[in-house]
Amino acid sequence: MRCVILAISNLLFNPACIVYANISRFKIITSGTDIVMTYVVVENCIKCKYTDCVDVCPVDCFHEGPNFLVIDPEECIDCTLCEPECPAGAIFADDDVPAGQESFIELNAELTKQWPVINASKDPPSDAEEWDGVEGKLQYLER
Ligand code: SF4
Ligand code: F3S
Repeated sequence: MRCVILAISNLLFNPACIVYANISRFKIITSGTDIVMTYVVVENCIKCKYTDCVDVCPVDCFHEGPNFLVIDPEECIDCTLCEPECPAGAIFADDDVPAGQESFIELNAELTKQWPVINASKDPPSDAEEWDGVEGKLQYLER
């Protein structure tokens, strides 16, 4: 993995700042205010839940609800591996979430505290293909 860890003192606003540089993206963690970039599951996962994504995550940061998965923003190391695995195209970097779906950033953070970790793929719902690409699925999210 082309991952570089740089420990930098007296950077920005905090004396103890670690920058994880992963290709072109950065995760910055300070002992004060966290500035965290992560990956996010968005609307098209709802009622599709293919779960291909969980098999590649090296840190088990996916959590499973009844008909949707979320990513724990505190665990995600921004490795990018899950994004191309999703057949529904439902995983985005938090700074690249489709317009109108910004609320899913907070939704991932919220629901990850309520749902259990899933670290092995399973069969999707039998009607997953029918729901793939349907707009306005947030109304069907089961908590
Ligand atoms: Fe897991 Fe990497 Fe995807 Fe984050 S970007 S959820 S660490 S596979
Ligand atoms: Fe959902 Fe895609 Fe994973 S549909 S369960 S984010 S593979």
